Amino acid sequence: MAGDSKFPENFLWGTATSATQVEGHVVNEWTDYVAADGGNCRVACDHYHRYAEDVDWMTRLGVNAYRMGIEWSRLQAAPFAPLNRTELDRYVHLLDCLKAVGITPMVVLHHFSNPPWITSAGGWLNPSAVPAFVDYVTKLVSALKDRVYLWNTFNEPDTYASLTYLLGGFPPFHKWRFASYRKVIRHMAEAHAQAGRVIQRDSGGVKTPEVGIAKNWTSFGAFQTFALWDHFLAAISHHAFNRFVLNEFLGGRRRDASTFLGVNYYGRARLNHFQALVPTNGVSTERLKQLGITCDDMFERHPAGFARLLKRFHRSYGLPIYITEHGAASTDEDFRIRDLMAHLHELRAAMDGGVDVRGFFYWSLLDNFEWQFGYSKKFGLLSVDFSDDKLPRKMTRVGEFYRNVCTTRTMDQGAPPGGRPPSPSVCRRV
Ligand code: FCB
Repeated sequence: MAGDSKFPENFLWGTATSATQVEGHVVNEWTDYVAADGGNCRVACDHYHRYAEDVDWMTRLGVNAYRMGIEWSRLQAAPFAPLNRTELDRYVHLLDCLKAVGITPMVVLHHFSNPPWITSAGGWLNPSAVPAFVDYVTKLVSALKDRVYLWNTFNEPDTYASLTYLLGGFPPFHKWRFASYRKVIRHMAEAHAQAGRVIQRDSGGVKTPEVGIAKNWTSFGAFQTFALWDHFLAAISHHAFNRFVLNEFLGGRRRDASTFLGVNYYGRARLNHFQALVPTNGVSTERLKQLGITCDDMFERHPAGFARLLKRFHRSYGLPIYITEHGAASTDEDFRIRDLMAHLHELRAAMDGGVDVRGFFYWSLLDNFEWQFGYSKKFGLLSVDFSDDKLPRKMTRVGEFYRNVCTTRTMDQGAPPGGRPPSPSVCRRV
């Protein structure tokens, strides 16, 4: 099987988080939000104070890359303001900690959160968000260009725009505002195009800069073959969430702003009488089981679609690809390991078929604040005990499995190699 061969030497084996979900102590539109399980993001995993410990854990996981958010709201108090020195220094120190143990950072510039002054001016509906974002990126790139070469401008613009203006899941919780959805995507695509050019021009410090978005990919289909209305809705969903978004970000001259395409892949949504058969839509586990649909605690799993998708992206855009997110939420660790293995085999098959994939980032390093769902979704390679004020982290069996993958560069699970030794104390914040 193709999966027996090694992944390339320079392949990035990483893990991912986002600032609002792990850092705690953020002041943005999520600060006062209370999730379905009563949780909020005010402390989250306290990665803000514990990043050195988390970098230690990364070394134990054997990863060589970390996709991390830099929180805009921490760095700019007003449009076009200088960057906050203290907060910048903290991120610089985190980047230095990563460097000290040979972990390559990929920085995400926008991951579902905004500075309060962007929100109060109408968020991404207001075109003035575009120059403000580009100014922020220009300043950040100039500050970090010696430490960062991998830049991810927007995480899942489609998820952000749909949950804010179509589905009512994210602040400001509006529903069915199609014109607003399109406007947000267009403004973000323009901001990406301008920021991408700035990054390629200015961020030449260590290595040739790389820049791209992370596109969430859900494939939509009808559960019943002859349900024409569900096929119709699936086609509309595909157009709105996939085609329209990719055309805006990568169509025409905007294509040049990206040097890679980031892909977040969790699975698919099949529709049954206009209802998506996925747990996040409130469909019970029993019902999904009866219907023969395999899900984690969020989405339907569809590994077979993964290689197909990667080949399709390769044909359509010819850009190198990073898998910027894949993971599964479940307390059943065997399920999560099987899920990861199945997706890595598909990834390997796509690469064997000629797709240029440069890295894979497991979502997520830590159990964390999963937006509307709070702390109920367990995605971590490390579990976090949120009932204990010290928020202790613990290695999971998925983490051990992934460590073997990262350190052997194969999916063959031989004797577990112990991972790299814990990082040196250079990383401790003084
Ligand atoms: C992705 C998001 C990430 C997390 C995972 C489960 O859509 O980018 O923040 O919520 O899903």
